[in-house]
Amino acid sequence: MNNFNFYNPTRILFGENKIAEMTNFIPQDARVLVLFGGESARKHGTLGEVITSLGDRYVEEFGGIEANPSYSTLMKAVQQIKDNKLDYLIGVGGGSVIDGVKFISLAVSCKGDAWQEILVDKAKGITQALPFGAVLTLPATGSEMNSNSVVTRYETREKMAFSSQLVYPQFSVLDPTKVSTLPPRQIANGIVDAFTHTMEQYLTYPVNARVQDRFAEGLLTTLVEIGPAILKDPTNYELQANFMWTATLALNGLIGAGVPQDWATHMIGHELTALHGLDHAQTLAIILPSVMSEQREQKHDKLIQYAERVWNITEGDDDTRIDLAIAKTRDFFEQMGVRTHLKDYQLGLADIPQMIKQLGEHGLTQLGEHSDIDLAKSTKILEASV
Ligand code: NZQ
Ligand code: ZN
Repeated sequence: MNNFNFYNPTRILFGENKIAEMTNFIPQDARVLVLFGGESARKHGTLGEVITSLGDRYVEEFGGIEANPSYSTLMKAVQQIKDNKLDYLIGVGGGSVIDGVKFISLAVSCKGDAWQEILVDKAKGITQALPFGAVLTLPATGSEMNSNSVVTRYETREKMAFSSQLVYPQFSVLDPTKVSTLPPRQIANGIVDAFTHTMEQYLTYPVNARVQDRFAEGLLTTLVEIGPAILKDPTNYELQANFMWTATLALNGLIGAGVPQDWATHMIGHELTALHGLDHAQTLAIILPSVMSEQREQKHDKLIQYAERVWNITEGDDDTRIDLAIAKTRDFFEQMGVRTHLKDYQLGLADIPQMIKQLGEHGLTQLGEHSDIDLAKSTKILEASV
């Protein structure tokens, strides 16, 4: 097992009606900005529950944070915070809203260009953030219990990520019943995203991190079990609860501690969303099977372990087992309703050079657990995804 530092200060309030308890963790004299996405939070009553829980505190609202949150929208919230001297943020939504709140919490203290300071310079020079909490309405990203955020600048078609110890939510409310109102596409996206997060911290090379491996395999098998079931029965509380907690655990740092990681699928996927507007999880469903296949030598031992422990594949030679494990992974995504080829989204070979150009411009030229996924390898991965 590799050395690691593990730190995760986010308090989790898990269960039905837990929104009512968040008042206990917010200063009584806080001047609060509640941020949300389109209309889902208001329409389905979550916003109302949050406002009720805040009681007598001074509260303003900021709506309209897009899926794949936009830099310019987020900067409007920054202005509102400065104009009205607000000092506590609550994000109500999925990964996009929570990521947006993370960015905003840092951007209020930026002296110059917030895009440059946070996304390009990776927030290295920033020393303070506004405190915030989150109310999760879409299990998928793990943003509710991690220090990552991804923001899109639509003018330049750039989608970039940063990570900062300053942006762990102080608390996150995980009320599984919020899954009830999700459209099937978002349920499927959430399952595929959580599955891919787990794979990217698991499918590298063995370092004898037994519990991380078994924990990851537990998350993967749980997602395989509950994914199709929750698509059919999205109001089943047992399924909702398992879905929500599994997605959080997939990216809260625990399974990634002490093991090599490979975020190539996400990095290539971000360019696909930035250039062509695909949902985040759609990009992962396209790229992950190709990464598994193109990196089969480097990932050989873990691919065999994955085949056996997640898909019960115990017969045939190694290549046969690996091919079957990749096919099962692809079938699982397709079964969830997430298509796995570029052509399913009207994209093809002609679109690859632009994606490669963007990867190069963003310095994403040494991806993977061995830093061996250069632009030539990314090209092969994309060609294998057509
Ligand atoms: O905007 P509204 O009306 O709220 O609708 C949203 C949105 O259109 C809807 N929705 C959310 N909760 C709902 C609901 N509809 C009905 N009922 C509910 N309970 O779902 C749509 C998608 O929401 P979004 O927040 O965009 O989805 P997701 O949670 O998948 O977040 C995706 C973003 O997170 C980033 C992605 O790149 C993308 O920008 N990621 C963040 C990560 C992190 N912070 O660690 C890691 C991930 O890998 C990912 O990159
Ligand atoms: Zn993701």
